[in-house]
Amino acid sequence: MKVLVIGTGAREHALVHALAQDSAVETVVAAPGNPGIDQVALCRDLPTGMTDGAAVADLAVELGVDLVVIGPEAPLVAGVADTVRQRGVAVFGPSAAAAQLEGSKAFAKEVMAAAGVPTALAHVCTTEDEVAAALDGFGAPHVVKDDGLAAGKGVIVTDDRAAALDHARACLAKAGGRVVVEEFLDGPEASLFCICDGETVVPLALAQDFKRVGDGDAGPNTGGMGAYSPLDWAPEGLVADVVARVAQPTIEEMARRGTPFVGVLYVGLALTSRGPRVVEFNARFGDPETQVVLARLATPLGAVLWSAAVGTLDELAPLQWRDEAAVTVVVASEGYPEAPVTGRPISGVVDVRDASVLHAGTALDAEGLLVSAGGRVLSVVALGRDLAEARERAYAAVERIELPGSHHRTDIALAAQRGQISC
Ligand code: AMP
Ligand code: GLY
Repeated sequence: MKVLVIGTGAREHALVHALAQDSAVETVVAAPGNPGIDQVALCRDLPTGMTDGAAVADLAVELGVDLVVIGPEAPLVAGVADTVRQRGVAVFGPSAAAAQLEGSKAFAKEVMAAAGVPTALAHVCTTEDEVAAALDGFGAPHVVKDDGLAAGKGVIVTDDRAAALDHARACLAKAGGRVVVEEFLDGPEASLFCICDGETVVPLALAQDFKRVGDGDAGPNTGGMGAYSPLDWAPEGLVADVVARVAQPTIEEMARRGTPFVGVLYVGLALTSRGPRVVEFNARFGDPETQVVLARLATPLGAVLWSAAVGTLDELAPLQWRDEAAVTVVVASEGYPEAPVTGRPISGVVDVRDASVLHAGTALDAEGLLVSAGGRVLSVVALGRDLAEARERAYAAVERIELPGSHHRTDIALAAQRGQISC
């Protein structure tokens, strides 16, 4: 099988790495890819961007690939999967219509309501007065979400009513602006990736992401600063419960609407005292959770994605998992998330032992040296017998890498390792 992976991040580096290890996959090509991916697979440019469906389809046809795997949300919401499918190439990734589960939080809420999926109570608002009434109705802490895609920056959770209103005002000012004001959900968060072929759901392993920029969950939300898997503290049966009460009903509702969901339904959960509640849906693999989930997956990835793309997930053998823990720590640029400084030299990557360094925002400069080119620069992944060993290896690797001004969280998976998480 020949596979084309669309994307530029550490999530795509993890996907390419896993596909390249699959003996059933002869060739992996990434577009646009990044300098790290270039070491494991051929990278091809997409000069008109990842959201140009015709260009992606042309490349897939030119390369003669059997399967296209679309990593990020923007091309999915833009309908790249539809264009590629129309050209007769199998795609792992939802249609534009199905990707609305991520593209519009109001739409996701409507589907959850129709499917009876447990989630936070919410009001969709189009005016400031409606927002004010909803904020007062729910009380603090306030949760205000931009309806549309916002690259991890659309959500504010705050006790400060004025800050919540300000955020809502900024979102409403955009063309067609809508916000979702929600009830606050208390409890630890978990991510579950559900592989779907439109009918059948195959869950991967649970992971936990660290969204805030600083240790102890201080500072603003980011795309994700680290992750780990498995979640030994999660209640017995959680995965089966989430498949039965969340993923399967959602997939059935999408099929009933004539927009079947093919790809990963990313279920972001809060494990509250009243049970699991959906915090968000995404229509793609999460970053950085994918890096730890795929590090633990022993089943070759190619057949899993292929079965989803062609609708035969019900025939797939049960997934096998390594009996190891995985931790990833994200190395971010100075100033991330507000104003990342890029173009700085990165060194020490070749000195890393017992861990893999996945590239996210990197580039080669005119002399061919590795430099930072984004907010999240590297995702350092390690496996270990347990979380303590995986953490030790991941952080030892991070210490070997030099990127002037960079920062990372030092507490990824620490509370879990210490047994301090309960729900
Ligand atoms: P979202 O983009 O919807 O995932 O939100 C980003 C982050 O904001 C989540 O991972 C949570 O940490 C937080 N968040 C979102 N919705 C809620 C909620 N209803 N209650 C508490 N925290 C939330
Ligand atoms: N890790 C969060 C996300 O991918 O949206």
